[in-house]
Amino acid sequence: MTRKRVLSGIQPTHDSFHLGNYLGAVKQWVELQQDHDAFYCVVDLHALTIETDPALLRKRTLASAAQLIALGVDPQKCTLFLQSHVPAHNQLAWIMECLAGFGEASRMTQFKDKSQKSGTDRTVVGLFTYPMLQAADILLYQPDLVPVGEDQRQHIELTRDLAGRFNSRYGQTFQMPEAYILKSGAKINDLQDPTSKMSKSAESMQGVIEIMDSPEANAKKIKSSMTDTGREVQFNEKQKPGISNLLTIHSSLSGSSIPEIEKEFEGKGYGDFKSAVAEVVVEYLRPIRARALELLEDEKSLLKILHEGADKARVVAEKTLADTYKNLGLAE
Ligand code: TYM
Repeated sequence: MTRKRVLSGIQPTHDSFHLGNYLGAVKQWVELQQDHDAFYCVVDLHALTIETDPALLRKRTLASAAQLIALGVDPQKCTLFLQSHVPAHNQLAWIMECLAGFGEASRMTQFKDKSQKSGTDRTVVGLFTYPMLQAADILLYQPDLVPVGEDQRQHIELTRDLAGRFNSRYGQTFQMPEAYILKSGAKINDLQDPTSKMSKSAESMQGVIEIMDSPEANAKKIKSSMTDTGREVQFNEKQKPGISNLLTIHSSLSGSSIPEIEKEFEGKGYGDFKSAVAEVVVEYLRPIRARALELLEDEKSLLKILHEGADKARVVAEKTLADTYKNLGLAE
């Protein structure tokens, strides 16, 4: 039986991934690679929608690959590569741009939010066409599943619409992908503002747990996270968004269920609970950070892994691109 195909991507826009990236997406990447044919890419071209110093972009790209491997993405079990190493992503993106409606693309909430924040003059066209490049990333690999966090649902819906439109106009070309979004962990919130998602572009990093941050800094952030009203450690997203977020984090990392953790902290206060969450997070991340730093010391080996991944990815991507061109009527 052929294994089901999986594809996902992550942007190298910062020095470190955060806990939301891990629990919302990468943790599922690691699980799915066991029994799926998995393709995972660091989407460095998407990161160009934010102006970055070239040396910093290169550093962050390698740091992203190192973190993925340290988090458990195994290049022996999956295909790990850089988006810019496979030119077919840009080539299919243009086809997707010619298929997507202007109004349809204007409705993407990520674009609306980001462009509203920076204003039209400072918003690059690439931010607008970003979802069509993402659709190309996905459709090139004919995946069954796309493991992502909740915030990517709309982009996957657009990808499905574009795939369906193309297939009905030009004949069956693309597999219809499905978003793979877990109930728990799909939206990890900011520790200081627990009604907003944990985000790399947050105004303050006080509420963001970064994988590459020191254990002391992360412990401090958790212990000084926003405190809800009341005293009991109970999961209630409306009345106790901060505690509920911490319960989700604890449970996802420790493997204990939320009711089990609630029971453990019956009669104890928020302070004890926060200390326990800090301990769970710090001990979970400690070896991961160390492994990522170790991998970064040997850039040559890291690049070799990525080049080998790109060689495998190109074979699949170029086949889909050739079929797409043929079905469109582009002469061979
Ligand atoms: P990016 O780089 O912003 O985030 C990577 C993954 O992390 C998830 N995520 C979260 N999950 C739970 N809680 C949070 N607070 C949280 N913050 C981020 C995201 O949902 C994502 O799965 N557009 C994509 C990158 C991309 C992509 C693709 C993804 C480009 N091409 C093809 C899948 C397939 C993005 O900006 O992810």
